[in-house]
Amino acid sequence: GFRGVIAVDGPSGSGKSSVCRAVARRLGLRYLDTGAMYRAVTWAAIDRGLDLDDQPAVAALSRGLTLGISTDPAAPGIAVDGVDVDGPIRTPKISESVSAIATNLDVRADLIARQRAIIADDGGIVAEGRDITTVVAPDADVRLLLTADENARIARRARELHGTADQEALKATHAQIATRDARDSTVVDFLVAADGVVTLDTSALTFEQVVSTVLQIVDEQA
Ligand code: C5P
Repeated sequence: GFRGVIAVDGPSGSGKSSVCRAVARRLGLRYLDTGAMYRAVTWAAIDRGLDLDDQPAVAALSRGLTLGISTDPAAPGIAVDGVDVDGPIRTPKISESVSAIATNLDVRADLIARQRAIIADDGGIVAEGRDITTVVAPDADVRLLLTADENARIARRARELHGTADQEALKATHAQIATRDARDSTVVDFLVAADGVVTLDTSALTFEQVVSTVLQIVDEQA
């Protein structure tokens, strides 16, 4: 079977995390959530009481952290210096603060080096983020951009965050997604596919349809 590298980028709410996990499980590959790494550094910087805009201090912290990353798609997880932070990194507080860390170029250099080392390990992998197809693994065997129109993304995130997509949840989520996208776009262009990257618009597809389309693309491309 396929034992290569699948690189997947996309904005929040594109459904990429659950899709990538499912694809990795079906193909027996490892799974890497690079967003969790940016979230983990954000968590550590807040935990240590750092000023998130003090770029040299945050970069020094990042370089000194031991990130324990599970690449098992059935049990993904991340620990910072031995502390399991899988729950804490998903809070709104971290989502609101992560852009300050993702725009820190020295943190990016540190995390990108770690990501490349993980990807290069044995066993094939599905790696997802914002800059995997372009910067981290531009020579991946399969490169995909998952997109979805804004309404679809907001509805998915609202269900994730609030367990519902009612009017109130949609409104709260809309503000959050728009702000994060705008900030993230200043570092990496993850809304437009680079040369050779296949775009998959998931707006009108069910989860199962997205997974099977990705598997089909892997079959054709690899
Ligand atoms: O994917 P997720 O929403 O968990 O990513 C959290 C944040 O990490 C993003 O909003 C972005 O700022 C940053 N990120 C990044 N590059 C990546 C993955 C995530 O800048 N490859």
